[in-house]
Amino acid sequence: MNIMIINSFSEHEKIISELYAEEKRNFLSQNFFSPNQFSPNSIDVEKIRADFPILSEKINGYDLVWFDNGATTQKPRQVIERIKYFYEHENSNIHRAAHELAARSTEAYENARKKTAAFIGADTDNIIFVRGTTEGINLVANSYVKPLLTPGDEIILSMLEHHANIVPWQLIAKETGAVIRVAPVDETGQIILSEYEELFSPRTKFVSVTHVSNALGTNHAN
Ligand SMILES: Cc1ncc(COP(=O)(O)O)c(C=O)c1O
Repeated sequence: MNIMIINSFSEHEKIISELYAEEKRNFLSQNFFSPNQFSPNSIDVEKIRADFPILSEKINGYDLVWFDNGATTQKPRQVIERIKYFYEHENSNIHRAAHELAARSTEAYENARKKTAAFIGADTDNIIFVRGTTEGINLVANSYVKPLLTPGDEIILSMLEHHANIVPWQLIAKETGAVIRVAPVDETGQIILSEYEELFSPRTKFVSVTHVSNALGTNHAN
């Protein structure tokens, strides 16, 4: 994960738009999408659904529609097959042995790290695999942000956040005397940018906001 400290709303806006431009360029440089396929009308939803075997399940007689990706993301056939291959041919102690299987599993693991880094435009060394969102946010909150905080410093969240992006900040705020400030949203679920801007002060030390809300579908990449 790339982490940076920002001091003003305009600086934040500039950094975010640069980050997303980079992310989008990396995404588009792969073969599976072309730019105009980003329009909802031209995405071949059926083709994408066909990659996910579980989406063929009937649930109470209906086709499955799955929205709960923040909690558990369904896996496409390519991922299922790669994991099956791993357990059949490579499974071993990653980075913790010198035998052939350890070499295979370590190589597979490190290749996944490289691909993830290329996909999001990060350095390979900055990719840390964790078990879930809460663990990842707790890691950033406790290892990176907490040591920066003094009483009265501020952390900005938004009203759209899941507990996983609230409680870790509340815990470190309680320990350090920092204060949490919350950006409001409008009736369509968009963050009200003018009010968000108002929240910035010289005491702002960190902003943590969801990329896409799984409750409302609000997408902050747009
Ligand atoms: C939007 C969202 N964020 C975070 C989480 C927490 O994820 P994890 O269980 O991986 O910590 C969930 C779990 O339901 C979620 O729905």
